[in-house]
Amino acid sequence: MVAPNAADARTVRIRIKRQDGPGQPARWEDFDVPYQTGANIISCLQWIAAHPRTVDGRDTTPVVYDSGCLEEVCGACTMVINGGVRQSCTALIENIIDDTNTITLEPMSSFPVVRDLAVDRARLFAALERVRAWVPIDGTYDLGAGPMESPRNQLTRYQLSQCMSCGCCMEACPQFNLEEDEAAWDSSFVGPHAISQARYFNLHETGAILADDRIDLLSAVGGVSDCGNAQNCVKVCPKEIPLTESIAAIGRAVTVRSIKRFFTG
Ligand code: SF4
Ligand code: SF4
Ligand code: FES
Repeated sequence: MVAPNAADARTVRIRIKRQDGPGQPARWEDFDVPYQTGANIISCLQWIAAHPRTVDGRDTTPVVYDSGCLEEVCGACTMVINGGVRQSCTALIENIIDDTNTITLEPMSSFPVVRDLAVDRARLFAALERVRAWVPIDGTYDLGAGPMESPRNQLTRYQLSQCMSCGCCMEACPQFNLEEDEAAWDSSFVGPHAISQARYFNLHETGAILADDRIDLLSAVGGVSDCGNAQNCVKVCPKEIPLTESIAAIGRAVTVRSIKRFFTG
């Protein structure tokens, strides 16, 4: 980390890739934002919304972005900051500023742009539906005590449960490319988060009812064999979820299931 020097202590230049809507051409706009200790990217975007004027003195529109929790829990504010994908609410200016005194913001490239820095993550959630990322219990009647779970399972599942569907791992994955055609989502790569969530629910005593369905889905086109093992996903996950471990575990489950099917038909 390099602190802003005396000459540029008054402002930080925020360079933003903007787009007026889906399919519209992109453009860059620069803003000089007063530097404040403790400021983060969201607070800078809020300042820009109140003062939408570029460095060359042109009035413009406030920059559109997504956010919710402002504490790295919802994943909505994910964007590409200085070339790396991460949450903007926890991106403190003092930690990311360098000698250029300029911070670049771009929308994630693996999801369609809605406007400016806001993207549509619907495919991410569709992938969770595809792998049946839920525990199949319905009804309000008393189900009694739940099944026992080993402390080791609890520990693994706790780690996996921290996924906030932010999209970082998909943005970093070379196999997960922008796919705007919804019809293609059923056969395109589900992504590392969905593989990990399939493992999470397969480890759940009741969720395991759908384990074979999940493994069958992940054996098919767009499943675990589409992973090229580049391991970019695990490096960018803000929750340090062991994604490559999950991919390996599901890969083993796919092999075991195909051997079983070979013998049982
Ligand atoms: S696995 Fe990590 S990077 Fe991927 S969506 Fe979940 S929290 Fe984000
Ligand atoms: S390990 Fe697989 S899922 Fe992770 S980034 Fe590489 S190709 Fe994508
Ligand atoms: S606003 Fe929820 S993670 Fe940033």
